[in-house]
Amino acid sequence: MAIILPDLPYAYDALEPYIDAETMHLHHDKHHQTYVNNANAALEKHPEIGEDLEALLADVESIPADIRQALINNGGGHLNHALFWELMTPEKTAPSADLAAAIDAAFGSFEEFQAAFTAAATTRFGSGWAWLVVNKEGKLEVTSTANQDTPISEGKKPILGLDVWEHAYYVKYRNVRPDYIKAFFSVINWNKVDELYAAAK
Ligand SMILES: [Fe+2]
Repeated sequence: MAIILPDLPYAYDALEPYIDAETMHLHHDKHHQTYVNNANAALEKHPEIGEDLEALLADVESIPADIRQALINNGGGHLNHALFWELMTPEKTAPSADLAAAIDAAFGSFEEFQAAFTAAATTRFGSGWAWLVVNKEGKLEVTSTANQDTPISEGKKPILGLDVWEHAYYVKYRNVRPDYIKAFFSVINWNKVDELYAAAK
């Protein structure tokens, strides 16, 4: 067994004009594939720990020291990207009534949630991710992580995530990360976010 690169759940150009096909090819076929390859190379050194990346990254101290950082980077990279592809869709979707009410309760309104998420994505210095998570108290929270660190390692369940590495937007948006963040809101798959929220709360 090994970790396998999942296919995109839509065509490479399906998210145009918000996310361009060239970016999707590079991002999925090259970057994500590299995380998969490197995660497998690390896991092969310790077959005794299995391949359940979510369980391993939920308790990083349990990972053998010689592959710990490699799995944080590449196992996290695989989990984050596998989730990210599913969090986008060319179809028009909206949060369920249940999720919309939870967003209002946590942030005041959808607009305030979007502002908080946008701020997290904009101010994450260097490479990383912005997240909407269900925290340990079962509440919604906006957060961000560096590199390929996953909120799972902090005991949080990610239900929405945005890759803000330059590789995610530089082909189309160059240095203008805020335009990419705005575009992301046009392709969010709220049906998937709903599903993750229902499972996490
Ligand atoms: Fe990425």
